Amino acid sequence: MTTSTALLGPELPLPPSLPTWNPLGHVLRFKNQPLELLNEAFDRCGDVARLWMGVRWMNVISAPAGVQRVLVDGAARYTKKTAGSLLLRKFLGQGLLTAEGARWKQQRRIATPAFHPQKIAAFVPGMRRAAEEVVERWVATPGERDIAGEMNRLTLRIAGETLFSMDISRESSEIGQALDGVMSYFLGAITNPLLAPFPTRARRRFEAGVRTLDRVVLDIIARRRQDPEKYEDLLGLFMQARDEETGEGMSDLQLRDEVLTMLLAGHETTSNALAWALYRLARHPEVQETAPARAEAVVKETMRLHPPAWILARKAEEEDSIEGYRIPAGTFVFVSPYLMHRHPRYWADPLRFDPSRFEGDAGKDRPKFVYFPFGAGPRRCIGENFALAEARTLLGTLTEGLRFIGDGHEVLGDPSVTLRPRGGLRLRVERR
Ligand code: HEM
Repeated sequence: MTTSTALLGPELPLPPSLPTWNPLGHVLRFKNQPLELLNEAFDRCGDVARLWMGVRWMNVISAPAGVQRVLVDGAARYTKKTAGSLLLRKFLGQGLLTAEGARWKQQRRIATPAFHPQKIAAFVPGMRRAAEEVVERWVATPGERDIAGEMNRLTLRIAGETLFSMDISRESSEIGQALDGVMSYFLGAITNPLLAPFPTRARRRFEAGVRTLDRVVLDIIARRRQDPEKYEDLLGLFMQARDEETGEGMSDLQLRDEVLTMLLAGHETTSNALAWALYRLARHPEVQETAPARAEAVVKETMRLHPPAWILARKAEEEDSIEGYRIPAGTFVFVSPYLMHRHPRYWADPLRFDPSRFEGDAGKDRPKFVYFPFGAGPRRCIGENFALAEARTLLGTLTEGLRFIGDGHEVLGDPSVTLRPRGGLRLRVERR
């Protein structure tokens, strides 16, 4: 690997840093109020800001060219070796989200055909049916609903059906329960990384959850090996897939990592996008009236203001230069869809909810890389089209049959693994 120091020259300045007297730097603030911290870094330092995080510097990049550099053109200089990703790897192993290098490249090649638009289209009727059942249930019993929880169950059901043709959203489902234990541990470990290695109750639940998921998923895979072409679900597509270069298929362990990756990466992100969309529609009844026909623009505008993946984290393995600043090797580099999607230079009246930003020609002069809810470059979300089809179908079906009414209070974001509505989201639901 060539070192680029000589090319870049030692004279490039480091990015401006947000002052701190604390030897741990901004670690605690990043844990407790990350969005506020990111905003402050942007307001005080501009498009490239440097924050001391106790053991390392973290560079926060909010310029489109910088985002392009980190995620696309210079992607080979950066890895995902950050604390959050290493923690996820304990669970997801060498699945697509957490693998690196040659292993990732091969998996991505094998998995890509499973997300072909035709394959996704085949899942849409099932998605619509699941949403219609919710509409029927709620029309029969109108009233206040835990929307965040309900959207979670709905997307979990769809994830189970599209992945391995099983409904895992029921309370009695072993997979659903185990996943719950795993997720709550991640929430705790991300907000309190110092506790992560200790055998707390959450940690024991996490380990038991992983053991259950391993057993159940490996068992499903073993049964499916008997007749791999019986199902046209994602697992079936993964089992039939062959690497076009080597002709190899996925091993049982690769399938296990990939199934759990899709389950985790796919369902909570989409469920949050939907919950936020319904929150926004409840606050804008005039938009809600037109939502069935404009579901895709509503989803896109919702993900602008509330991107489920609110930050993408990388480690610079080699020195780089971004916007005229030196990014030393070994530092973290974060790009935040949350910050970019509200950047006042690129969005008129950035806090206003307006789906027409994503209709017709409205976005034609918008620079690339100011909107990237699914990331960009080689590690861009493989499930993007799946997620958009799902969100569009569910939101369209729900708003065709139902009306969502809020009490007017503002719901803040809770940026943990994904950006959730803080304290959940309750709305009154009635027949439309
Ligand atoms: C609204 C829903 C979704 C959002 C906002 C979202 C967002 C993202 C983002 C931002 C990344 C890139 C992460 C990075 O660069 O660090 C990503 C990667 C990924 N997503 Fe999604 N995602 C969504 C739905 C899905 C679905 C439905 C699936 C699968 C069925 C999925 C599977 C994955 C996988 C496997 C990766 C890793 C890809 C790779 O590194 O090659 N996502 N997602």
